[in-house]
Amino acid sequence: MKTILVTGGAGFIGSHTSLELLNAGFKVVIMDNLSNSKLTAVKRVEQLTGKDIKFYKADLLNKDEMRTIFSENSIDAVIHFAGLKAVGESVEKPLLYYKNNVSGTINLCEVMTDAGVKSLVFSSSATVYGNPSESPLSEETDLSATNPYGQTKLTIEYILKDIYYSDNEWNIALLRYFNPVGAHESGEIGEDPKGIPNNLMPFVSQVAVGKLEKLHVFGDDYPTRDGTGIRDYIHVVDLATGHLKALEKLQEKPGVEAYNLGTGEGKSVLEVIKAFEEATGKKIPYTISPRRPGDAVVCYADASKAEKELDWQARRTMIEMCKDSWNWQSKNPDGYV
Ligand code: NAD
Ligand code: UD1
Repeated sequence: MKTILVTGGAGFIGSHTSLELLNAGFKVVIMDNLSNSKLTAVKRVEQLTGKDIKFYKADLLNKDEMRTIFSENSIDAVIHFAGLKAVGESVEKPLLYYKNNVSGTINLCEVMTDAGVKSLVFSSSATVYGNPSESPLSEETDLSATNPYGQTKLTIEYILKDIYYSDNEWNIALLRYFNPVGAHESGEIGEDPKGIPNNLMPFVSQVAVGKLEKLHVFGDDYPTRDGTGIRDYIHVVDLATGHLKALEKLQEKPGVEAYNLGTGEGKSVLEVIKAFEEATGKKIPYTISPRRPGDAVVCYADASKAEKELDWQARRTMIEMCKDSWNWQSKNPDGYV
């Protein structure tokens, strides 16, 4: 049985991926400093799967803690989710972001090198395409960053490519996520943002559950079909299964490769509101507000490379994404308390 170290495994995408790994027969070791998550998520994954997870409260910035994990477990590969992800905060605290995300990843790779573990799946983001002028975005699209968070993802991609070029024994997948939403169908695990959500789907869910009064639609004068921004929303469980496919690929076809994980289909903000209302029967009051600075107009994936090379495709619909987001939110109005 293969053992996978999941960094950031208590978080939103990490917890869903850990669940899929356990169901597929992998052994899962999680390291997380719980800076943006709760241990409850890990416990719930154990309950849902009936399997144990070895959990370490450990920090990417502490190499001794990570060395202990590698010496106490026979790790075959690492899925690296741990990182800070709030764009606005990264503008205010760039050093925190560079230190945590970039230095943290360098530490992880050093410890992996010492332990002889050279298979890595990295959580990158569509943010590495900067503010794209047209979509769909293929992996060949020019890369750029518009904020420190995006710059950390881009920098880490370059670092990981250089590691591979220096030592071809490394196998690295750079997974560029589009907009992960939804939750496990049980409603037991989901996205638990701190404070007022920045992202659309958690904001809509919190309006639906009565925690927030109304949604502010950031701009309705974009050159799109209804004037609102278009994104590629992907169900988090589809995203999770993409990681298992990437692990398989690392074994069969080594190298360093980037893959877009999205549905390939763009939805506008108003279309998301409509789908949420249809899926849940809840009315979402909203007002039109000014554009959010830095927002892209349209951003959706060309996901054909992942389909061809990983044999992976997102399957869940927008209605399922909304239903599952709502199921999680209504069962856990205050998140993991
Ligand atoms: P999350 O915040 O829920 O999960 C990240 C986890 O990493 C948290 O549990 C946090 O406690 C942990 N962590 C942070 N810094 C750490 C450190 N120094 N040491 C140990 N643990 C640390 O976020 P998520 O939505 O699950 O995202 C996972 C990854 O995917 C992140 O790298 C994020 O940048 C990337 N990503 C997320 C999205 C998204 O919209 N959610 C989109 C693209 C990429
Ligand atoms: C944001 C981040 C991006 C990150 C991504 C996924 C910014 C500028 N970008 O992108 O770096 O990779 O999340 O985590 O923060 N919207 C509203 N009202 C809201 C919230 C959002 O109208 O209250 C709109 C936005 O203008 C956008 C769409 O909904 O058109 C999606 O927004 P969001 O969920 O924040 O994702 P991104 O903008 O793609």
